Amino acid sequence: MKTLVLYDSLYGNTEKIAKAIGEAFPDDVKVMRVTEVNPAELQNIDLLILGSPTHGGRPTKDVQALLNNQQFTLKGIKVAAFDTRGDSVITKIFGYAATRLAESLQKKGNILIGEPMGFIVKSTKGPLKDGETERAAAWGKEILKKMS
Ligand SMILES: Cc1cc2nc3c(=O)[nH]c(=O)nc-3n(C[C@H](O)[C@H](O)[C@H](O)COP(=O)(O)O)c2cc1C
Repeated sequence: MKTLVLYDSLYGNTEKIAKAIGEAFPDDVKVMRVTEVNPAELQNIDLLILGSPTHGGRPTKDVQALLNNQQFTLKGIKVAAFDTRGDSVITKIFGYAATRLAESLQKKGNILIGEPMGFIVKSTKGPLKDGETERAAAWGKEILKKMS
């Protein structure tokens, strides 16, 4: 099973979460930044896990650009989405990146496995709330189970 964990990250927190998720997969897993991937390279994977920091309730511009890229033709594969986010009343009003990523990947004809998941940062630049990398690894393991 070929798994790709794709992420964007301004301050490194989403990167840490992406790596923790990737470690839950025993073999054939790549963890890459969205700006490093060529959409054409996405062809032969079985599972895509896509993550982004939440910016104004949405994924970052680079993640949105990948999804809007005409060469992003991924269809009919299993997908999951995560984000990092703050934990305040205001951030709740705008919504979160993971929900939108999941919707977008589903609209393209992919199969969502697992609920979109958010991981909390204590402030804009981080750090992550205690225990979030462990929770990310556990979330990755849940997804792996659903793939078997
Ligand atoms: C321009 C900008 C907009 C943001 N908007 C939101 C938001 O709408 N909701 C939220 O929960 N957090 C928001 N944040 C906080 C980010 O979620 C936080 O910076 C991010 O999770 C850190 O991840 P990173 O280290 O991978 O960049 C925003 C941060 C920036 C820089």
